[in-house]
Amino acid sequence: MFITFEGIDGSGKSTISKLIFDKLQKEGHKVILTREPGGDVIAEKLRKFILDTDNKDIKPWTEVLLYIAARKQHVDTKIKKALCEGNIVICDRFMDSTTAYQGFGRGLDIYKIDELQKYILEDNIPDLTIFFDINADQVLTRIKKRNETKDRLEEEGISFQKNVYQGYKKLIEKYPDRIKRVDATRSIDQVVNDTFEIINKKIKG
Ligand code: TMP
Repeated sequence: MFITFEGIDGSGKSTISKLIFDKLQKEGHKVILTREPGGDVIAEKLRKFILDTDNKDIKPWTEVLLYIAARKQHVDTKIKKALCEGNIVICDRFMDSTTAYQGFGRGLDIYKIDELQKYILEDNIPDLTIFFDINADQVLTRIKKRNETKDRLEEEGISFQKNVYQGYKKLIEKYPDRIKRVDATRSIDQVVNDTFEIINKKIKG
């Protein structure tokens, strides 16, 4: 089963994904945790390049192609294999990030992005996607508290994150069977419990 986690920057999905990974392992599931952009040696190199704050001049469609290139590499070297071997694959971000960030965030043609991804990914799409729902204002407070160095995308600011958030909301409406929403404004324990319940339901069919 292929499960992806999505949300705007600072939504907590990376922390939650590690906790869910541990919980599934403890319950005896074969599971791997991976992330995007990245997930294999080449794709991690692309990640460094894409998120480098020096690369401010990357053009919007170049950015789309770089994310999709990293994704293709990741799918072909790691995700397909792990799924074939019977693993549950948890991926921190996947194709919906490109639609939300580059499509809705940068204002690029969603249809073209969808078509590109369909062509490149073929049937390697998630069985389940969890959207960690927390809005841009709440997230900004979290980022400030964490006092972390910002990457190129995080530097885009609040209005960009707001557009991305709206993009995710549209994706939930479009794919209600695949994308499930979890209220990520609550405690980590509550978010983990809800996420785990959704995943368990899917596993049990
Ligand atoms: P991360 O902080 O969740 O690891 O993601 C890195 C950044 O890359 C984050 O700001 C979201 C952004 N991103 C896109 O803009 N498009 C994509 O397709 C992906 C996977 C990530």
